[in-house]
Amino acid sequence: MDLELRDRVAIVAASSQGLGKAVALGLASEGARLSLCARTAKTLEATAEEIRKATGAEVLARPMDVTNYEQVKAFAKETLERFGQVDICVTNAGGPPSKTFAATTVEDWQAGVNLNLMSTLYFAREVLPLMQKQRWGRLIAITSVAVKQPIDNLILSNAVRSAVSGLVKSLANEYAAANVLVNNVCPGFTQTARLEELAAKRAAAEGA
Ligand SMILES: NC(=O)c1ccc[n+]([C@@H]2O[C@H](COP(=O)([O-])OP(=O)(O)OC[C@H]3O[C@@H](n4cnc5c(N)ncnc54)[C@H](OP(=O)(O)O)[C@@H]3O)[C@@H](O)[C@H]2O)c1
Repeated sequence: MDLELRDRVAIVAASSQGLGKAVALGLASEGARLSLCARTAKTLEATAEEIRKATGAEVLARPMDVTNYEQVKAFAKETLERFGQVDICVTNAGGPPSKTFAATTVEDWQAGVNLNLMSTLYFAREVLPLMQKQRWGRLIAITSVAVKQPIDNLILSNAVRSAVSGLVKSLANEYAAANVLVNNVCPGFTQTARLEELAAKRAAAEGA
């Protein structure tokens, strides 16, 4: 089936490993051109090279932190300059730590909001006007199944991702008329480094 993604330009945030990397590889396999980011330059460049070799896709890779608005702005600008358009943007980030409410500090809350809500907002601010102008765009936020059913000891994720869902649904309504579709993907448990870290922490706590 042709998904009509050939030559589309896709930003995939936080994509050196795990879900972001899998999304990037999937889009590249369909012929999309990619702009990837993550904080660790070495892993990011290795992933970019792996995708280039496997698919022949054109890949721009920039080390940056999605919680830094200036860096997101510069990354979106560089993507536009390099490819001339931005058609798809998949917002993603790491996950917040696993904690109970009692163990969660105000600083943890602020960091959680920055990591998962503000980072989504930063990308949306930069790419939606471009998509609106070209009257075609897809913004896809990766959140979690936690927006449907809160997960024990993941209170930061449970709360902040619901805020992302509210943002995404509002954007979907506001931008649909410009042929810009905004969706929220809520993954269930998927074996990545993030899941292994959460499982190890829980096993240690339970002596299992
Ligand atoms: N795996 C699951 O079962 C599952 C289920 C539901 C929801 N989720 C959520 O989906 C998202 C991705 O999960 P995953 O399992 O793929 O995680 P992962 O394997 O830990 O990968 C996270 C990726 O994000 C990058 N990253 C983390 N913080 C970043 C930042 N501040 N700026 C830029 N890049 C950043 C990491 O690279 P660097 O560390 O080099 O920056 C890495 O490439 C997370 O928010 C997670 O909570 C995961």
